[in-house]
Amino acid sequence: MPLIALLPGDGIGPEVIAEARRVLDAMSLDLTFEEAPVGGAAYQAGGHPLPAATLDLARRADAILFGAVGDPTCDALERSLRPEQAILGLRKELALFANLRPAKLFPGLEDASALRPEVAAAIDMVIVRELNGDVYFGEKGMRTTAAGLREGYDVMRYDESEVARIAHLGFQTATKRAGKLCSVDKANVLETSQLWRDVVIEVSAHYPQVALTHMYVDNCAMQLVRDPGQFDVIVTGNLFGDILSDQASMCAGSIGMLPSASLDASAKGLYEPIHGSAPDIAGQSKANPCATILSAAMMLRHSLGMAEAADRLEAAVGAALAGGARTADLGGTLSTRAMGDAVLVAL
Ligand code: NAD
Ligand code: IPM
Ligand code: MN
Repeated sequence: MPLIALLPGDGIGPEVIAEARRVLDAMSLDLTFEEAPVGGAAYQAGGHPLPAATLDLARRADAILFGAVGDPTCDALERSLRPEQAILGLRKELALFANLRPAKLFPGLEDASALRPEVAAAIDMVIVRELNGDVYFGEKGMRTTAAGLREGYDVMRYDESEVARIAHLGFQTATKRAGKLCSVDKANVLETSQLWRDVVIEVSAHYPQVALTHMYVDNCAMQLVRDPGQFDVIVTGNLFGDILSDQASMCAGSIGMLPSASLDASAKGLYEPIHGSAPDIAGQSKANPCATILSAAMMLRHSLGMAEAADRLEAAVGAALAGGARTADLGGTLSTRAMGDAVLVAL
């Protein structure tokens, strides 16, 4: 029986994970769950955001379902003890280098999008974000300049093997979809991006059936609101992918709707909503659990070989939304639990 590591984390993390768990339980899939603390909750309980036992569970499990980490009371801690280090540590320790962030507009959510309905309706893309490199994991620090000024620095870097492996995944993802891959970089300014572009072009020789284009990240941010329907698959680095996926979420209705899968070279994966711990609404039963429920569906598909169950779960979310179920972020009044109930009814 597959073992799922449940890591609820902080803020709205436990609230949205509870709904995903209820939905999975209702599907009678023969899964076992083991829960462990992570993030600020783990720091408060034991002094470290990613305890050894939590990392061990993540390693042992067949898949990880993650809520969110982040606690404003921890923002002054030294960086290695902050909640966000838990998710960064899991991604690095488990070599989860590929982050799939699908963004599509569910029918009925046109009015929740920040875009005009006819522009939003066309959104159906996957952002393939590199997750183990870039400015996130380069050398960083604080130092004092010769003039006595404080200076912060973070080195942006990729080597060609890191670019090639995510590029392959981008092309493979596009092959299974509409066959269009847009590589997003800042090659007009950054050497890291020039290497990125060169390597993506080299890798493209293996995928003649995919139409490859390149776009600078600033233009991409603009195109995402001008005409998001032009994108099929976007492949990009860690930092650009972080920013563009939050932007894409609001084009598609809400950040509370976007799931993600973080995959290693095999089928092992960590599944989490793209949003954070939302301290502004935590504890108020206002959070939209759909992103986490859809992340659970991705887990069934990518790590557990349960594609049919994944389809069923995604269809249930779609049916609940089509039936008018809406949390506050979508302009409705349902609580987190009531939204979970709506998905359960649709199941
Ligand atoms: P956030 O995503 O937590 O929230 C941004 C805004 O979106 C807030 O107004 C929030 O209320 C709203 N929102 C987010 N998720 C929602 C949901 N499911 N339903 C309804 N509304 C939702 O981003 P932030 O405020 O910049 O960050 C808060 C904390 O979360 C920080 O500590 C940050 O580092 C952390 N964070 C963690 C992750 C993660 O665990 N993977 C991701 C992003 C941010
Ligand atoms: C995300 C988050 C994380 C990131 C933070 C919390 C480290 O914003 O998962 O999108 O920047 O990757
Ligand atoms: Mn983010």
